[in-house]
Amino acid sequence: MQIRQMKLLPEVGSVKPATVFPVLALGLWALQVIGLGIATIPGAKAQSPIIIQFSHVVTADTSKGKAALKFKELAEARTEGKVRVEVYPNSELYKDKEELEALRLGAVQMLAPALSKLGGDFEVFDLPFLFKDHAAFRSVVNGPIGQNMLQKLESRGMKGLGYWDNGFKVFTSNRPLQSVRDFKGLKIRVQASKVLVDQMQKLGAEPVVSPLIDVYKSLKDGRLDGEENTPINIDSQRLHEVQNNLTISNHGYLAYAVVVNKEFWERLPSDIRIALEGALRDATAYENELAEADNKKALEHMRKAGNLNVLALSPQEIKQWRDVLSPVYQDSRAWIDPALVTSVLAATSPP
Ligand code: SIN
Repeated sequence: MQIRQMKLLPEVGSVKPATVFPVLALGLWALQVIGLGIATIPGAKAQSPIIIQFSHVVTADTSKGKAALKFKELAEARTEGKVRVEVYPNSELYKDKEELEALRLGAVQMLAPALSKLGGDFEVFDLPFLFKDHAAFRSVVNGPIGQNMLQKLESRGMKGLGYWDNGFKVFTSNRPLQSVRDFKGLKIRVQASKVLVDQMQKLGAEPVVSPLIDVYKSLKDGRLDGEENTPINIDSQRLHEVQNNLTISNHGYLAYAVVVNKEFWERLPSDIRIALEGALRDATAYENELAEADNKKALEHMRKAGNLNVLALSPQEIKQWRDVLSPVYQDSRAWIDPALVTSVLAATSPP
């Protein structure tokens, strides 16, 4: 099965045009390394703190945003000021795809991208209706499958430190989405993942890949008709203000890998690295505690805001959605290691 080329929406009010981005990123990195009294490379200046720039694309009050700040607090306290963590939320520094390039170039040291954005085998986590609950997701990522996948990131210049949770995705749209037929012809934003593109095509919609930070404006301007995301992300990006309907479909799962630039990480003094690993472990526990409750709160907040028609699916409708989306499993074996798809299915046994 051939996935049609992803449609990419031109970036709105772009932070940095894609063509000049690598140059800017490299320039930023060079400035950090050669001057400004700041050492991003451990040991470059004996007295300077080691700076970890942690970039992400959601707001500071999301569970990921709060956990990034928790990591900062713990890392700085436990290294007694030898490390300073600068957190840049909500695409302040880089948008979705740019941040991975920035990490690769060493322009930032730490990210927590959605697994969809890591592409390749990580798209296995985008398969529709894969996990029945948060615990099912965690048992896969904390077991051999998830740990082996983090290990493989090393060949891409990243060190995977752990997984952070978010939760189940819902759809928002201008047209009520109850039956799978309601998707026909709608332009729906997805993250850059072939599984998500295929999913939208199976529903008869037109998938549009766009950075999260641009989605509000594109929905408002009518360049998009809808999108899928978790309640936390929809609420914090205020997407419900420019949409009429929300369908609690829980059709997919969104979570993160916390990654660092591998070279940076390996050059840290071992006592610092151990302290940071501990800080990350505790920030991870904190994030995983928050995510499920924060999604519930976000949904309630949007319901109370009053402008959304919130729809639930009946068991018959859920079955119809599953049936239409189930061929994505077979399709995905064309670009995800088929043995991985098989082992994830065996570990989750989706209905
Ligand atoms: C995120 O949660 O980091 C972003 C997800 C998205 O781009 O929809």
